[in-house]
Amino acid sequence: MISESPWWAESVIYQIYPRSFFDSNGDGEGDLPGITSHLEHVQSLGADAIWLSPFYTSPNKDGGYDVADPRGVDPRFGNLEDARALIKRAHQLELRVLVDVVPNHFSDQHAWFTEAISSKAGSAERKRFHFYDAKSDGTPPNNWISLFGGPAWTQIKTSDGTAQYYLHLFDSSQPDLNWENEDVASDFEKTLRFWLDLGVDGFRIDVAHGLAKENILIDHHDPEGLSNALRLDFEMSSEERGELLASAPFFDREGVHAIYRNWRRIFDSYDREVMAVAEAWVHPPARATRYVRGDELQQVFNFDLLVAPFDAAFLFQCISSTLEMLRQVDAPATWALSNHDTPRVASRHGSKASRALALFVLALPGSCYIYNGQELGLPDAQLADSDRQDPAFFRTKGLQKGRDGARVPMPWSGDKTPFGFSSGSPWLPIPNEWREFSVSSQNTDPSSTLNLYRSALKIRKNRFVGAGEIEWVDRGETGLLSFARGEFAVYLNTGTSAIEIPTVGTLALGSDREVKLANGTLSLPAASAAWVAIR
Ligand code: NOJ
Repeated sequence: MISESPWWAESVIYQIYPRSFFDSNGDGEGDLPGITSHLEHVQSLGADAIWLSPFYTSPNKDGGYDVADPRGVDPRFGNLEDARALIKRAHQLELRVLVDVVPNHFSDQHAWFTEAISSKAGSAERKRFHFYDAKSDGTPPNNWISLFGGPAWTQIKTSDGTAQYYLHLFDSSQPDLNWENEDVASDFEKTLRFWLDLGVDGFRIDVAHGLAKENILIDHHDPEGLSNALRLDFEMSSEERGELLASAPFFDREGVHAIYRNWRRIFDSYDREVMAVAEAWVHPPARATRYVRGDELQQVFNFDLLVAPFDAAFLFQCISSTLEMLRQVDAPATWALSNHDTPRVASRHGSKASRALALFVLALPGSCYIYNGQELGLPDAQLADSDRQDPAFFRTKGLQKGRDGARVPMPWSGDKTPFGFSSGSPWLPIPNEWREFSVSSQNTDPSSTLNLYRSALKIRKNRFVGAGEIEWVDRGETGLLSFARGEFAVYLNTGTSAIEIPTVGTLALGSDREVKLANGTLSLPAASAAWVAIR
């Protein structure tokens, strides 16, 4: 089927967390040459593109999202030549390449911040960040709390004896940039062009909703609640989270849109289809559409499925409303079941349900993001506190365990940890039990999660892409969700007992071996999904 849509409209984009993909030099951390040498894995999976989490020069206080030079490769990952080689190889394999851009903050090791703290209060160097005097009692300018816990302000004393606070919505090593400052905007334009000139096809924009701040000196009525909501506190109801998110004075402000209109002009000045996807946590969800209006970005992440229960009625609500909302602005949906910031889908729902959910989601119109290791069915690893590296763990004094469990390196081959990932000692230990998850263990097993993803992606590419909208049939009331799309009927049973469904057609793919279609009846066991070819 020939699709006339742009490449990204229904693409499968595979997220690579560079530190955890493949280590080529034995230092225990993944690197760019390691990625290049293992891109065939991504190609054989059937993805259309890769998104690389940051590999830029960084003291690595927040997994590289603390960027000290956005146009430089951190030596831990290789060098610019390695980046060029990676992009070239990906393109040879017909994989587009997205890279992260982190515009909300720099690392405190960035030259600008070093200049700012050695310059006077009120200087041009300080105006690139948010520096403010303390309140008269010496406390921070407002009561905002960092998303990683603790105050969102840190005080800096300069040699002339003056002291000011700077704002950091994340770690204290990640000072927020002041987007009202001209230098900031022009430096990011330079960064975008730099990577586009090197050959990348687009960007994932970190904290895309955070660049414009309002009412910076005003306290928030519930800073603690807000900070919990922003960290995706799983205990919180979605209504409560929504209300708090909508009240964040530093997120989803009108000012961000002018920035993206400007970026869009840059993307469009290239003679290839350049795209960007926004990481924007907004409320109500319909506000996400504002990021993908005709003259802004191409995609905005939908994170509903990262927090959704395995419940057909709930899934119906979030999928149908997302599709409806994006239709209004003519933008494709995006779907993600896992990423480097949240517990993995296999840990949230268990192996069987997560396979079923994946199969269901891969039939939807729009773009699907797969986080490295998701295709292996990896769960989060249990880690000792002494192994943890996430700043959220340290800033909350261990109250939150943080995100490291979802960032443990990929198991590739062999019988013993680190399963071919590295010839050295991996930066986070890979559990001994992960042999069954390794690529080589799953490669030739037709019922493996890896082969389920491969089969699904193959069918998706050949028979779903371009097939248009979905027609809902079962809306989840009885634990069954189903729709027709193109040549297929797609089913998901989130209940605890099997369902028998009279069906005409042939079973194209089931999420596990117990899914059967015989004598005109589809047997869908608890927590399973099926694609039935009906035309
Ligand atoms: C979102 C990124 O995905 C996360 O890993 C990071 O900690 C924050 N933004 C801050 O950059």
